[in-house]
Amino acid sequence: MIEVSVPGKLYIAGEYAVVEPGYPAVVVAVDQFISVTIKKATKNGSIQSQQYSDLPIRWTRNKGELILDHRDNPFHYILAAIRLTEKYAQEKGIDLGFYDLKVTSELDSSSGRKYGLGSSGAVTVATIKALNLFYNLKLDQLTQFKIAALAHLDIQSNGSCGDIAASCFGGWIAFSTFDHEWVKQRRKTESLVSLIEMNWPKLSIRPLTVPKNLRLLIGWTGSPASTSDLVDQVNESKEDKKENQVSYQKFLQESKSCVEELIDGFLTNDVSKIKEMIRKNRQLLHHLSKITHVQIETPALKQLCDLAEACGGAAKSSGAGGGDCGIVIADQKTGILPLMSRWEEKEIIPLPLHVYHYRGGKG
Ligand code: PMV
Ligand code: MG
Repeated sequence: MIEVSVPGKLYIAGEYAVVEPGYPAVVVAVDQFISVTIKKATKNGSIQSQQYSDLPIRWTRNKGELILDHRDNPFHYILAAIRLTEKYAQEKGIDLGFYDLKVTSELDSSSGRKYGLGSSGAVTVATIKALNLFYNLKLDQLTQFKIAALAHLDIQSNGSCGDIAASCFGGWIAFSTFDHEWVKQRRKTESLVSLIEMNWPKLSIRPLTVPKNLRLLIGWTGSPASTSDLVDQVNESKEDKKENQVSYQKFLQESKSCVEELIDGFLTNDVSKIKEMIRKNRQLLHHLSKITHVQIETPALKQLCDLAEACGGAAKSSGAGGGDCGIVIADQKTGILPLMSRWEEKEIIPLPLHVYHYRGGKG
């Protein structure tokens, strides 16, 4: 039997701007996993996922018509990942077989609530990694990333694919996304293998070394948020009026220079610069909320951040916000117990996560 485990992720900085090609974010892989097992089968196969049962299927309307929103449903990511990996295998002349594929996940709480650790990205990557072994494809990490990113484009995901980069590569990553339109156009004319062999414009995935005296803390608000909904809302209101478009462009530029300085803080081992840029990014996201009227930092996230700041950390919401998690960067020598007990008084749950690195740097 084949079994692979893939880590979840957390955004550190650069959110929302990172959905635009070429604008950077920093994202980390965390040691909570999605696992996929594959067992050879004959004549027919099965797909089973803990995440599928009981999962409500969300819907929306387009011109009055009811449309199911598949973007929050992990099953569709599994199917898209299978279709693409098998297409790749076929183009390489490999015979397809039958198997029973099973997904188990630690990226949801025991009561089924989502932590916001990127389960859709992780399940896509885990499926591809398992099939990579099943068909002995010998895919490198960048190829796995590209197949997973194409699977997300097939589901009309509006995300940056930073979650996929974290799950594929592990560790701390500086990421900026590829030109999605360029890839969609090439998809119509190129074979899968040749599209994957091309350089994708603006895509950048760089592992970062974290300063030894940096500590990352994670707090969970207990309320789930839909990233795809929040990104849709930001996309709609940034186009609303001319003045929003101008402010949004300014936000993109400022986020870019902030994240570039943050990355520089990693390269120069400068924890105080990293902290300063985390605070700056928090302010930039507040400003984006003002422009778009989308609530990124909820009252619970504000409390999480304010308490962390009072204890000497630099804090912000992680990812799309609207609930889920907040992150804190602190110096290794800052004691964390006072913050932990203050969080608990306010029902903010510290998540005992660590950054996850693939052994030998390979996934
Ligand atoms: O809420 P999360 O952790 O899934 O992060 C979303 C980050 C965004 O930049 C808002 C969207 C994206 O896909 O990059
Ligand atoms: Mg989130």
